[in-house]
Order: sequence, then C-alpha cells, then structure tokens
Amino acid sequence: MCGISGIAGGSDVTKRLYSCMLNLEYRGYDSCGMAVASGGAIEVRKNIGRVAEVFEKERFAELSGETGIAHSRWATHGAPSKVNSHPHTSSDERIAVVHNGIIANYVKLKEMLTENGHNFRSETDSEVIAQLLEFHHKKHGNFARAIRETMEELEGTYAFAAVVAESPDVIFCARNKNPLIIGVGKDANYVASDVVAFIEYTKNVVYLNDNEYAVVSKDSHQVFSAATGAPMEKEIDVINWDAEQAKKGGYPHFLLKEIYEQPTAVRSALQIPIEDIERIAKMAQDAEQVYLLGVGTTFYVTMLAQYYFKEIAGVFAPSISSDEFSYLCNVDEKTLVIAISQSGETFDTLEALRYAKANGAKTAAIVNALGSSMTREVDEVLMQGAGPEKSVLSTKAALSQIIVLTRIAISLGEMRGSLSADARDELNTSLWELVDVLRRLLDEKPGFIRRVAKRISSYTKWLFIGRGYHMPAALEAALKLKEVTYIPAEGMPGGFMKHGPISMIDEDMVAVVLMPTPENERLYNSTLINVSEMKSRGAKLVGFHFNPDEKIFDEDIVLPKAHYLFAPIPELVAGQLLAYFCAILLKRHPDNPRGLAKSVTVE
Ligand code: F6R
Repeated sequence: MCGISGIAGGSDVTKRLYSCMLNLEYRGYDSCGMAVASGGAIEVRKNIGRVAEVFEKERFAELSGETGIAHSRWATHGAPSKVNSHPHTSSDERIAVVHNGIIANYVKLKEMLTENGHNFRSETDSEVIAQLLEFHHKKHGNFARAIRETMEELEGTYAFAAVVAESPDVIFCARNKNPLIIGVGKDANYVASDVVAFIEYTKNVVYLNDNEYAVVSKDSHQVFSAATGAPMEKEIDVINWDAEQAKKGGYPHFLLKEIYEQPTAVRSALQIPIEDIERIAKMAQDAEQVYLLGVGTTFYVTMLAQYYFKEIAGVFAPSISSDEFSYLCNVDEKTLVIAISQSGETFDTLEALRYAKANGAKTAAIVNALGSSMTREVDEVLMQGAGPEKSVLSTKAALSQIIVLTRIAISLGEMRGSLSADARDELNTSLWELVDVLRRLLDEKPGFIRRVAKRISSYTKWLFIGRGYHMPAALEAALKLKEVTYIPAEGMPGGFMKHGPISMIDEDMVAVVLMPTPENERLYNSTLINVSEMKSRGAKLVGFHFNPDEKIFDEDIVLPKAHYLFAPIPELVAGQLLAYFCAILLKRHPDNPRGLAKSVTVE
C-alpha cells in the first residue's frame, strides 16, 4: 500500500534507494519516483511502471546527492500517471514529499491552499502535504514547526517523508496510523515503511508511533511528539531477519519460494514456546465470547480455525471478516478478540481492534511482521516467526497462522477439560507430521500439478467446493486462483451449490473438489453427491484427494495423507501451486498481481 524509503548520508544514495524501492515494491507497483536534495535544490524523477523499468527510463542513476527519498505507488486518489506519481513537490519546488495513506480532508485543504496561491499539479491527496508544509514553512521559517502545524491539520492516515532544499542533509518524516521506521546505520540513516527496505544495510531500527515525527540525518536521528514538540526517548531494536531471507534465494518468484518455505514455517510455528500459546488460550478461557478476526486470506485462516476451536476445544469462536466486525458484533469487557494479520498493518483489522478496545474488549494479535502497528496496540501479541513474506499472495504466513491457532485450540481444550491428554498428544503429533507431509508434497507433486494446470488453465470459469473444515480451504484456493490469474473463481460450501450456483455449471467450467478422506464417512459421502451433480452437468472435475485408487475425477491431484482434521493444509498448498502454475501459463506476474498490494493500509 505504497512503499516509502529514504536515505540520509553515504555516497551511493540512488543505488541504495533503488534497492530499497525494489524491496518495497510489494507494497504497490503502478508507478514510482525518487527525489534527491543537493546543492540547495531538489531534483525529482518519476513515472508510471515497475521500479526497474522507471529506474532505467528516467535514468535515476544520474541523480546525485547525499539525501534522498523514494516511493512506489498503489494508487488511491488519482489514476496511475506521471503527474500523480510521488514524490510531490511544493509550489516553489523546494520541498518534496512521499506519502503512504489517505488524507481524508485533502479537498478542504486544497481549496484553502489554492486560495493562498498554491499551484496544484496532481489529482492526489498526497500533494497537499508538500503544499501545506510550504505554507507553514513560509509563515514561520522553521521546518519543525511547519511539520507540527501540518500534522495538526491533516486528517486521515499517513506516513510521509520529506526532503527540503534548504536543509539538504536531512530527511523529515512523520507518522499517523501508517507504518514508518528509522534504520540506524554506520555511515547513513534510513527511513522506510518496512524494515525489509533497508535490512541489507542495517538491522538496527527505531519505530515511530502515531503522531510522532523525526528528523534524520547521516549521523543522527531524533523523534519528537507532534503534540508538544518534545523529543522522545526511543530504544534501538535489533531485527533478527537476515537480508537473504528477504531475497528470492534461487527461486524464479517469491511466491514459489514462500510456498516451498512452508514446511519450515509450520515447524517454526510448532516451536513457539507453549507458554506463549497458553497465554492466549487463557485469555480465551477467561472470556465469555471469543471472536477470530482477519480479512482476505487471513479471514479464511480464521474460518478454518473456527472449525478447530469447535472440534478440538468445544468452543464456538466465530470468524469475522475484520471489515464487517463493527457492524455485526456485540463487544464488551467479557469479549476477547483474536486478530490475525501477516503484516500487522491491515487497516480493516486495526480499526476492528480499535472498535473492540473502545468497547472494553481484551485484544490479542497473531502477527508476522516485526514491530508492526498491531503489535503495539493489543493487550497480547504472539509473533508467528514465519520470516518475511514478500509475495503479495499470502502463503507461508497463512499456513503458520493456522498452526498457531490450532495450538491455541488444543491448549484451550485442555484448560476446559474437553480434550484428554491422549487426544492432545495425538493432535500434536499430527501437527508435527505436517512438516513431512508438506515436504513430500513439495518434493513430489509440483511437476504433476503443473501438468494438470497446463490442461485446465485455459478454462474461464472455476468453482472450488468443500464441506466442513474443507470449506475454508476451498474458499482460499479460489481466492488464490482469482487474485493471481484474474480468472473468475468461486469458492463455496458443497451443500450451498444446489441453492443457486449449480445453474452456472456446464462443460466450460472447472470444478475443483476438496475431497475428504473416506474415513470421515459423512463428509465423504456428502461431497460425493456434489461430485455426481457436477459430473452430470458436464463440468471438468478436478479432485484434491488422498486416495490413489479414487476414480471419479477427470484430473486427480493425490496428496500425501495427513490427520483427517488437518487435510485442508496439504489442500491449501496444492491450491497455491495450482494458482502459481496457472499464473505462469497465462503470463501473469505471480508476485505482483494487478491492482493488489501486500499491506492494505487503507479503508
Ligand atoms: C491474499 C492476501 C490478502 C491478505 C489480507 C490481510 O493472498 O494476502 O488477502 O491476507 O490483505 O492481510 P494481513 O494478513 O497482512 O492482515
């Protein structure tokens, strides 16, 4: 959702900024730009296109200076175009700004500034920040004061960074509800939306909180309260990810790399100390009502977990799409909200948590991104430790979230006395077995799944069905396919199909069936009915199943067997691989599908 980066100090600013931009491209990639301050002036270059393309086209390497800011954009206000790309400059072109977020009152501010002689060039909300900074700077001749007054007037969400012609060795930056981090290096300091931007240069970081701004130069960084102007004491945290973890490591795409990292992500989730799991289970045990919250893939993670909470712990903990939470749910001090978020920055989930807190609920979050906003806003945080996820499509983070939530369900079942020690041990053993199940799947099946993808990727209507705990996996497999191939794909419960969607089925449709193991007789037989209904209407039937002797599908994707409850886990991985190979065959970009961004920090 727009990537901001900045560097103060050092001799190869454009080269390092380019690398930061590439690392943040997952946050938005419809246009990008760079501004460098040098010799009392600012030079800006920007255009539409991917970072590498624009870097060449606009010859960013020619820019020289010791301080620079950069941006890759995910358009919200104003279509992707050269003029709407960031950085935006003030009317006198002595201030350049990059922004992530949405300025809610930009129309009003634009009117006021236009009346005061400011000359706007873009359709963006972001440009008002540069113009407002100039307006206040001209009034007081003091940039720190200009920032504070600007922040006072801006409504909405933002992280921004600015370079100023008259102070060419300094970056000014500020945060309100969008992430902003300072990287403290040896010969330079950095600012960015995410630590992965500069992790190859420094692992020492300082997090800005809401309503704080900072002044960053080559050898100093100082954070201030926007309300009082007082300097803030900040600790330097050390990030334990390495730069290699954030790179492709020989895979053609981050998506494939991250799919292959799933056995490791599952193992890391299983190695989270039991005390950390029990802390959240205890909160659930003490609550009268537990909600599981996420959005997109993460919503489907909570949907699956909802089955596990019921099956394992005997607790109905409804899964709610974060964006609907405040419209739907009753919340009070006896409520626990467990939010799940890879990025820890998702606007909808943060807002739902804030709503829950405001109504007295206890809050917990399971998060992957270190230092993200969510980790600082909830009562209890559990870090998943899945390592950085760079592809826009969530894969390994989602799988690791499922494991964490399952462990919480097991712990809760024990606390409630509804799960025996034997049953607990059996479930834990089965969870550990998943590491090997996924390894085998990833060693043996991708070539086969690629061949199936070749035979079906030209179909333009897809349906994924599953029943019981296979249903959320069907919804997620459909989401993966549609987001990366742009093919319309529906996911739904098997039982729902005959209540309407069945009329779509004909020989132009691929129907992917998530087939339970026969030992789960009721689910198996009900799903079998769906298979017959779809077969008789001519659909191309693809089965994700566990039985090499099954002969009912047109295409079989036979998966290594897992405990029946955890069968959705290999199904999810098969769905990811199918989507990946279809994307490659259809020449879609697997890491950066159109119109998406990894960290959705806007409403
Ligand atoms: C899809 C995907 C998204 C995210 C959603 C929530 O592959 O990645 O649907 O799951 O935007 O993101 P987080 O987990 O960061 O809150």
